[in-house]
Amino acid sequence: MAQPQRCAAVVVGAGPAGLAVVGNLLEKQLGGTIAWVDPLFQGGRINQRYREVPSNTKVCYFQAYATAVQPFRTVIENTRIPNPFTTMAKLDQNKTCHLHHAIDVVRALTDGITKMERVLPCRGVVTAANLAEKTATWTVRIRVQDSQDEVEVLTPRLVVCTGSSPTEVSISIPGHHIERLDLDLVLKPSDLVSHLPRDKPLTVAVVGASHSAILALLNLVDLARTSHPELRIKWFTRHSLRYAEFMDGWILRDNTGLKGSAADFARQQLEDDKLPHSEAGRFITKVYCGDNQEQAQYERHLPSCSYLVQAVGFTRDPLPELSINGSSLEPEFDPVSGGFRDSNGRVVRGLYGAGIAFPERVVDPYGNVEYAVGFFKFMNFVKRYPSITVTHSLTRSPDYMNTVN
Ligand SMILES: Cc1cc2nc3c(=O)[nH]c(=O)nc-3n(C[C@H](O)[C@H](O)[C@H](O)COP(=O)(O)OP(=O)(O)OC[C@H]3O[C@@H](n4cnc5c(N)ncnc54)[C@H](O)[C@@H]3O)c2cc1C
Ligand SMILES: NC(=O)c1ccc[n+]([C@@H]2O[C@H](COP(=O)([O-])OP(=O)(O)OC[C@H]3O[C@@H](n4cnc5c(N)ncnc54)[C@H](OP(=O)(O)O)[C@@H]3O)[C@@H](O)[C@H]2O)c1
Repeated sequence: MAQPQRCAAVVVGAGPAGLAVVGNLLEKQLGGTIAWVDPLFQGGRINQRYREVPSNTKVCYFQAYATAVQPFRTVIENTRIPNPFTTMAKLDQNKTCHLHHAIDVVRALTDGITKMERVLPCRGVVTAANLAEKTATWTVRIRVQDSQDEVEVLTPRLVVCTGSSPTEVSISIPGHHIERLDLDLVLKPSDLVSHLPRDKPLTVAVVGASHSAILALLNLVDLARTSHPELRIKWFTRHSLRYAEFMDGWILRDNTGLKGSAADFARQQLEDDKLPHSEAGRFITKVYCGDNQEQAQYERHLPSCSYLVQAVGFTRDPLPELSINGSSLEPEFDPVSGGFRDSNGRVVRGLYGAGIAFPERVVDPYGNVEYAVGFFKFMNFVKRYPSITVTHSLTRSPDYMNTVN
């Protein structure tokens, strides 16, 4: 392995959060290069799986994200038009849009940022990182994509923006096998339509009642009223529908309440007083699972279902193997500072997190605690990272890191 090189920071992950971190570090003029690691550099999970999902944030927030830091504005100014920025600028700023618009902006920004002189993009995966406390230096190990090569980078700052995947809980009933239907597939109507058989009666169980679940119901209802007339849906929910509410200058349930087309569909068709008469109600049977009735309800209703979709939240993806002075580290994220603590509650020097896996904890004026997940929310959190800007004298990393073109 080549001699480790020094960088001002290593940012892991090139989804909307990793991009926000790199944009901020560039703006803060750390005085060294930023190594940025991702297998694809194409906008993260949304680009791969959720391009067809309607957004739950207004276009103006994607615009605010895209113009929040000078390096992003420089990319926008230098990108030939028409481009994803000009397309987004033409959309109604007070409405939501499909996520392909937002993620194409992220991809265009990523293309521009990876070409900047102080950024060393590395197509690959961070497999491990060790903090030498004596020197406050992380040694970050990167497996380079499409090769057996591993490289090491030394840095005082390691920022993990590694994303999350749909949560899977254990749902089983004795003597019955039920086929799992991937949430990501259900959120992609163009694939879902050919995945489900059309020529036989079919019932899909959907578990959950937040954005993912409501959009799963919406997509399945669309199939039932068009290409799949024999499709029926059982909807397992343990709470009533919750909506974001616009208050005086703030949003109640900003991160947990339904917004956008999911909220419209839920209000108009899924509420208890609407479902019996709505079009969706022709295909959906609601199964209430609250008050600890979950298992009993599954045992009663799942035997008549052929597929099960779990829309019960997202779980952080595994982090690279982390250690301090060679001893394994199970870091605990501090959602207030953006940093991490070790198992003794000590701050882990130079380690930060952002994005859906490491969101900021926020408290609304009523005292409700939520976790702030969204492009512009990541941006705001990262802008306020307290200690990340402490400067260090560093040299440029080697050209072999510069593998994205
Ligand atoms: C269905 C859905 C719809 C959403 N809609 C909206 C919306 O309308 N508006 C909004 O503001 N937010 C929305 N969000 C929330 C949030 O903005 C997205 O989840 C966003 O994609 C999270 O970005 P991220 O960068 O944290 O993670 P990701 O996009 O998942 O990116 C993580 C990246 O890290 C890489 N990575 C992971 N481990 C490593 C490693 N060891 N080495 C190198 N790379 C690694 C991954 O390959 C990936 O590219 C939505 C979320 C979901 C799930
Ligand atoms: N653009 C969009 O419209 C869109 C679409 C999908 C996701 N997203 C974003 O992605 C993030 C995740 O959203 P999400 O909807 O996937 O998850 P989520 O907001 O975390 O909600 C999870 C839901 O699953 C329920 N649940 C959890 N465990 C359950 C169980 N065992 N049985 C039944 N219900 C269970 C929860 O109910 P309890 O509250 O009772 O636990 C909650 O309703 C959010 O930030 C969201 O904004 C956005």
